[in-house]
Amino acid sequence: MRKVITYGSFDLFHEGHYNLLKRAKALGDYLIVGVTTEQYDEARGKLNIIDSLDKRIENVRQTGFADEIIVEDHPGQKVEDVQKYNVDVFTVGSDWTGAFDYMKQFCEVVYLERTKNISSTQVRNDRHPIIRIGVIGTGRIAVRFVPEAKYVSGVMVNSVFNPNLESAKEFGQKFELDMATDNFNDLMTEVDAVYIASPHQTHYDYAKRAIENGKHVLCEKPLAFKKAEAEELFDLARQHNVVLLEAIKTAYCPGFVQLVGLAKSGVIGKICDVEACFTRLTSPEMRERTDTEYGGGFTEFGSHTLLPIMKLMGTDYKEVRFDSIKDENGIDLYTKASFVYENGMALSKSGVGVKSEGQLLISGTKGYIIAESPWWLTQYFEVRYEDPSKKDRYFFKFLGQGLRYEISDFAYMIQGHQGRSYKFTEKESIAIAGVMEQFLAKRRVDRDSSKQ
Ligand code: CTP
Repeated sequence: MRKVITYGSFDLFHEGHYNLLKRAKALGDYLIVGVTTEQYDEARGKLNIIDSLDKRIENVRQTGFADEIIVEDHPGQKVEDVQKYNVDVFTVGSDWTGAFDYMKQFCEVVYLERTKNISSTQVRNDRHPIIRIGVIGTGRIAVRFVPEAKYVSGVMVNSVFNPNLESAKEFGQKFELDMATDNFNDLMTEVDAVYIASPHQTHYDYAKRAIENGKHVLCEKPLAFKKAEAEELFDLARQHNVVLLEAIKTAYCPGFVQLVGLAKSGVIGKICDVEACFTRLTSPEMRERTDTEYGGGFTEFGSHTLLPIMKLMGTDYKEVRFDSIKDENGIDLYTKASFVYENGMALSKSGVGVKSEGQLLISGTKGYIIAESPWWLTQYFEVRYEDPSKKDRYFFKFLGQGLRYEISDFAYMIQGHQGRSYKFTEKESIAIAGVMEQFLAKRRVDRDSSKQ
């Protein structure tokens, strides 16, 4: 019996897939089809898989060509499978010509001619018009956004807005955008969605105006400095039927998503305490150190540290207490925010003028999870127990600057797909705005009382 094996994502099953499977089957007597998991696809840079693994397997099964269907979930698996299943022929479409020549040491390799003018990417794009994104603000993060968006199919950054026209033009030229403007209304005519990366205190206002214009909004952290403002924005988004997402990139990266899932699955027992730290020494001339109203360690990095706290301990804390070390101008160089929960606690440490170990530590009744710096770009974490010899290690890919994950989820939601909003919920976003509000209120009170 001649055994043939082939692999693919088989997303949005189309004629090209059908033809490929038919021809693959014709190469032998028994066809094994490997269907990739979403996680594996993400790790190799395919971020936009739409159909679930079940559905993709079912579609392959329905062709009737596959004698056996397996799941592919890690690099190197092809080499294992070919030997394990005693395969005679390895085959894929001609778009992969050359890429699998290394398999020739194990079996025959056949590149089958690809069906022209059809691909999952094309079906995805045909189903949904390209989402045109305008960037608001041209600072440090905005510069990272445009190259990252190129990795997400279905979106295109086409324009930029900055009240300073020169900055907008410079940015527009750098990234070859169609429009660079200082006129917000003009921007609104050119886009379906915006990415807000302007100074923190302008986020709420721009988000509101964009939503009122019927645009989807991906807004850099912090979405708002007041709980009521965050609530208002989410209500408005609902009324206008648009997607609003706060861009804390950690929330959307695969390693962090799995860390949260694992922690909640009970491996460390009941979660009792979360400690998250993020500090970056910033020079005294930088906005983070000079903006006495909105600068400082907590407003800058608190969103990062609050994310795992809200996700793992929940948004219903009983109390929060802030302790800060302040600069002469009153901004916090370092802040500890301590949360008390019904039967647990959490600590956020953030700073722009004090350096500490940037780690995420989740303590439970059976063990703990530790993710070392930079845990916010989650690539690795460990689950540890009372018995120090028992240790589970988890590794992940974190591609590029990581913004592609949030952009991918944003696009997915705009296209009307459900099921990704759990990564960072409206409730969690609103709760973080609420903590920011309490922090800033305290800072104002402290400042006023020190003046008296
Ligand atoms: N394939 C093909 N003809 C097409 C599209 C795909 O022969 N028009 C083959 C691929 O070469 C591969 C298999 O089908 O051997 C599964 O491919 P997959 O990557 O799942 O499909 P694509 O449509 O290429 O997906 P994408 O656009 O996401 O890359």
